[in-house]
Amino acid sequence: MIDFKKMAQTYDTPLYIYDFDHIKNRFETLKKAFKARKSIIAYAVKANSNLSLLKMLASLEAGADCVSIGEIKRALLAGIPKYKIVFSGVGKKDEEISEALKLDILFINVESEAELERVEELARGLGKKARISIRVNPDIDPKTHPYISTGLSQNKFGVDIETAKGMYLKANNSSFLEPVGIHFHIGSQLTDIEPIKEAAVKVADLTRSLIKVGVDIRFFDVGGGLGVVYDNESTIEPYDYAQAILSAMKGLDLTIVCEPGRYVVANGGYFLTRVLYEKRNGDKRFIIVDGGMNDLLRPSLYNAYHKVEIVDKKGAKEPADIVGPVCESGDFFAKEVKLPPTQRGDLVVVHSAGAYGFVMSSNYNSRPRPAEVAVEKGSSRLIRARESFEDLIAKEIEFL
Ligand SMILES: Cc1ncc(COP(=O)(O)O)c(C=O)c1O
Repeated sequence: MIDFKKMAQTYDTPLYIYDFDHIKNRFETLKKAFKARKSIIAYAVKANSNLSLLKMLASLEAGADCVSIGEIKRALLAGIPKYKIVFSGVGKKDEEISEALKLDILFINVESEAELERVEELARGLGKKARISIRVNPDIDPKTHPYISTGLSQNKFGVDIETAKGMYLKANNSSFLEPVGIHFHIGSQLTDIEPIKEAAVKVADLTRSLIKVGVDIRFFDVGGGLGVVYDNESTIEPYDYAQAILSAMKGLDLTIVCEPGRYVVANGGYFLTRVLYEKRNGDKRFIIVDGGMNDLLRPSLYNAYHKVEIVDKKGAKEPADIVGPVCESGDFFAKEVKLPPTQRGDLVVVHSAGAYGFVMSSNYNSRPRPAEVAVEKGSSRLIRARESFEDLIAKEIEFL
């Protein structure tokens, strides 16, 4: 159990706390589910890119799924080997592609015909052969929030199956492209296994037909997306997930690349914030805390549910909104949740904040980003210092 009072005393609030033991356990569970096959668990760095967290995952033999050259550099700095790093993303800049080629990562996930041409051009310029994979959009409804659904033709990600075929043939005939993988990712926070099965079957069929015509595909990249419990969702067991993918891949002897983000880190993270005031506007009760939407955006962005709790507090519970100090009505962590009366200084824990939490934070309202702390084997340590006012103005001050 994490001693939230001690955490607040030691590190102040607002604060992100990560339970590294929990996160390790989640990573190992997924790794085990795929252990019967050659596989790379390429952690999706976008979910939480803290260097200490990446270093811990590197020690468990993680690979990395990155969506910018910045994430690739983070992964390398943390000790994740280049041959386990893949580069995804719908809009990579020339500099990013060139640098990824120079760094010799495992492969680049290409998301459009135009991008394939750019990668070929840039590889030619460097006198290199670019290892690529093509992100196939299987046009399947993942049944998740529209903002995190990515596998429908109406989404901006990947290319349809027919386009992908043409791109593979083109790449196979190029002296500067080496199509080594195939990729799909249909969405995030997936709680229904059927769309995953359907997508895997479609992409595995395409893979067989490509191998038949001489494309030497070696990596089957199934993306990420495994959902977690925020409230009372029923989720997919890693074993069932792995079995669904393996059964779709019958007869294909390929290395599986799996890109989990949320599954690994979401429930190992807590956002800790302090009560500043309570107030009522008519019948409505508000608990105003020192953390804001700039620190944890998910509730404001997706109307996402996070379980909240007031530490060590008893008393008659009444509905309240927990809101931050940012000048936006959308600045909230919870709405109409039944909570006991609070006093200034009480601690509020926002659960399941390990994924898409700190990484989406900003300095909106000139608020410094919170500190990050790791808890491991009963002790805690700072893994990112709280930002200061000087950090906020560092890039401007020289122009005054
Ligand atoms: C290509 C790709 N891989 C992996 C992920 C990680 O998803 P999740 O955190 O849901 O596992 C994402 C998330 O958007 C993605 O776009």
